Amino acid sequence: MGKTGFSLVLALALVTLSTSSDKQCILSGSWQNELGSNMSIFAVNNAGQFSGLYFTAVSATPKPIVVSPLNGSQHMENSEQPTFGFTVSWKFSDSTTVFVGQCFVDDDGEQTLKTMWLLREKVSIIGDDWKATTVGTDVFTRIKGQKVEKPLKSDL
Ligand code: BTN
Repeated sequence: MGKTGFSLVLALALVTLSTSSDKQCILSGSWQNELGSNMSIFAVNNAGQFSGLYFTAVSATPKPIVVSPLNGSQHMENSEQPTFGFTVSWKFSDSTTVFVGQCFVDDDGEQTLKTMWLLREKVSIIGDDWKATTVGTDVFTRIKGQKVEKPLKSDL
C-alpha cells in the first residue's frame, strides 16, 4: 500500500472511531415505558445523582394514582452508556420500587433505558413477607420535544 492509501485508511479509521464514541446516552429528560408510565429525570449532577418524577400507568392498589418522586444515581466514568439505579417512593401507597438499568444509544442516536425493577409492597405480618416483592422489566424510550423543569416542592 502506498503512502496515500495508508493515509486514507488511517483517516477513515479516525473518522469511524470519533463518530462511534460521540454517541452518549443522557438520562435527563422525559421517558415512557411499554405500560404507558412516564417519568421525568432532572439534571444529573457531577456526582451522577439525579431526582425526578414518576407517573405510573398501573398500580397494585385501588388507590388513585398520583405523581411520585424518584431519586437515583448513574455511573459517571465511561458514561457513554451508563448503568444507573433509582428508587420511587410511591405517594399513593406504602410501596417502594427500585429500578436498575442501562442507558443505550444506537447508531441513529435513539436512546433506550433497559431496566429491571423490584416492587416492595407493605404487608401486615412477617409471615406474608414471602409475597411482598414482585420483579419485572421495563423498557423506556424518550418522549421527544418535552421541556423538563424541576418542580416546586409544593407540586409534589
Ligand atoms: C403501587 O402499586 O403500590 C405503586 C405503583 C407501582 C407501579 C409499578 S413499578 C414497576 C412497574 N412499572 C411501572 O411503570 N409501573 C409498575
